[in-house]
Amino acid sequence: MRIEDATVLVTGGNRGIGKSLVAEALARGARKVYAAARNPEAVTNPDAVPVALDITDPASITAAAERLTDVDILINNAGVHLGGEILVDELDKIRREMEVNYFGPLQVSRAFAPILAANNGHLLTINSGLSWAVVPDYSSYSATKAASWMMTNALRLELVAHGVGVTSLHVGWTDTDMVAHRSDEKVPPAQVAREAFAGIEADALEVVVGEGASQLKAALALDPSVLYGAR
Ligand SMILES: NC(=O)c1ccc[n+]([C@@H]2O[C@H](COP(=O)([O-])OP(=O)(O)OC[C@H]3O[C@@H](n4cnc5c(N)ncnc54)[C@H](OP(=O)(O)O)[C@@H]3O)[C@@H](O)[C@H]2O)c1
Repeated sequence: MRIEDATVLVTGGNRGIGKSLVAEALARGARKVYAAARNPEAVTNPDAVPVALDITDPASITAAAERLTDVDILINNAGVHLGGEILVDELDKIRREMEVNYFGPLQVSRAFAPILAANNGHLLTINSGLSWAVVPDYSSYSATKAASWMMTNALRLELVAHGVGVTSLHVGWTDTDMVAHRSDEKVPPAQVAREAFAGIEADALEVVVGEGASQLKAALALDPSVLYGAR
């Protein structure tokens, strides 16, 4: 799918990876880039079109889909890390994280699927190395990203007949507010954005960014004790 002259919608386009995705789409010659945000005034890129969109609010999603019928490329990027340990955290918090990271992109994808089909479009979801493994303090988050990964695969199955390509992007620690408290080596968000659009242009089914996510993917094929230790 060509980015040049395409119309792109990025959820959570006001900061973090989303902000870099908006900048990269514009740099690659997209005709129009909708930077969706809960608060559109938080969108600072003067060349983007700010759009109000809370991915957990059905009315907000319907209003966006009714207006933005020219979208060729949808990027499900918005997400949160709220939880730590699933035996300790309040269930409400764990549900809220699933609401944003799984039901959010699912509802947005359902609303925009007919538009993408009409425009022979493409959908990319920002998933994670933690779609494939759990690390301490990311138990419930990893479950949401595993669900989102499988949602992306299911969307691919269901959208292929409608001429819509679907890409699942997986990245490890990335240098944004979400993991600002961590001292790990981090991937620059601009690199995630570059590899995301290269993947869309190549119609890639999957894009794995950085060494951390690659290692977690490889570990999936090994005995679980490699990741979680022996009992
Ligand atoms: N950073 C990492 O290490 C990392 C690694 C792998 C995958 N990811 C994934 O990458 C994506 C972007 O994360 P990030 O690192 O850029 O995080 P971030 O800097 O915290 O930004 C999160 C974005 O999501 C938006 N958002 C949160 N809840 C929303 C809602 N209900 N409706 C609409 N927008 C909402 C935020 O908007 P507000 O400004 O209104 O809060 C913000 O724009 C997420 O899906 C995350 O899970 C991140």
